[in-house]
Amino acid sequence: MRYQTIPNSLFIKNRKNFIAKTKKNTITILTSNDVKHNNADDVMGFTQNNDLFYLSGIDQEETILVLYPDAYKPENREILFVKETNEHIKIWDGDKLTKEQASEISGIKRVEWLHDFEKILQLIAFEADGFYLGHNEHIKRVTNNQQTQQDRMIDWCKDKYPLHKLHRAAKITRELRIVKSEIEVALIQKAADISVEGFHRVLQNVQPDCKEYELEAELTYTLVKRGGTRHAFKPIVASGKNACALHYNVNDDTCEDGEMILMDFGVCYGNYNSDTTRCIPSNGKFSERQKEVYSAVLHCLKEGSKLLKPGILSADYEKKMASLVEEQLIKLGLLDASEVAAQNPDKPLYKKYFMHGTAHHLGLDVHDVGLYSRVFEAGMVLTCEPGIYIPEEGIGCRLENDYVLTETGNINLTAAMPIEIEEIEELINKKNLVK
Ligand code: GLY
Ligand code: MN
Ligand code: MN
Repeated sequence: MRYQTIPNSLFIKNRKNFIAKTKKNTITILTSNDVKHNNADDVMGFTQNNDLFYLSGIDQEETILVLYPDAYKPENREILFVKETNEHIKIWDGDKLTKEQASEISGIKRVEWLHDFEKILQLIAFEADGFYLGHNEHIKRVTNNQQTQQDRMIDWCKDKYPLHKLHRAAKITRELRIVKSEIEVALIQKAADISVEGFHRVLQNVQPDCKEYELEAELTYTLVKRGGTRHAFKPIVASGKNACALHYNVNDDTCEDGEMILMDFGVCYGNYNSDTTRCIPSNGKFSERQKEVYSAVLHCLKEGSKLLKPGILSADYEKKMASLVEEQLIKLGLLDASEVAAQNPDKPLYKKYFMHGTAHHLGLDVHDVGLYSRVFEAGMVLTCEPGIYIPEEGIGCRLENDYVLTETGNINLTAAMPIEIEEIEELINKKNLVK
């Protein structure tokens, strides 16, 4: 594994918390994700299903977790199924988890081969009244015509056990996953630390006329070098007006002299993610206007992040953030104060320059699962990411940090990533002096 071993106490505790919320006499069955195919014999790689990972720590394809806390026989209460290796797999792909390794990672005593799943489940299924099954319940999930492993498991259970009741495992995992344990926060911190290092490499390598993808390469180099699994999402390296397209990520343009470059990037480490945004001048010196816009956004980040604390509702927090940005837009001369005072509250004028939310949960998913109707609590990890986008001036600025909420406020997990104007200019120019 690329990442340091995660103590299995995390997964043991997660399972304990999970089953405490399930109905009596039910069996939970969670599956891993499919390996996504590309063209011909190429695959896009494997990303574990996050609910399965949360409850088992197993990072291998073709895995099934079965939890049946009320099973008559103790050996049927937790069973992990992993795929059995063979000579062919060994020759082409290398090692797969042994039963002992899977048991050590997950803390589950009974590990069986996947090909025995149907037979073993049959032995316990009729003892139970129903099944908890996994499904993607993210509010912004992307659904297309692809059937997932979870869809197939639901169909299979309905077919084989039509009189069992089905329940939603995701309703429980999203309640649990939204509040992070110390081990989880440490993993997000590690991801954030790698992001900080990557940003320093970018500062050392940025120069007028460099390509956006050259800066992306610095981020990729660092995360691979430091044991990150992958980018948390395809990084955005957007120079000049490209920064005004919120999900721009082709990163194929030239960073012209005098342009500001927006970089929104994250590292996935041990399946936990960081998510940060910084803006830098391609030539090492912000223009006066870039400074004005940057300072406005930085002010919103500093003031807004103070609001991230237990007891506040996401919707109220977003309203306060919007007011902060609105105030800055007036100061920048982009909005007229009297027009703002008379605006239709359903169509606020700030939306022209600031069109996204500023806090999302962060964890196993970058936009982590959890209900936004739940008030913020200690242990939640959230981003703070105000932005101002002015396409007509070729300036798009967003600044994003990651915070873990404490009983009294929050801790900035990305505090080590340079953000002050002078600091960023100095770090870019230090490199120019060395040349
Ligand atoms: N990079 C995605 C986000 O900032 O939410
Ligand atoms: Mn981001
Ligand atoms: Mn974000």
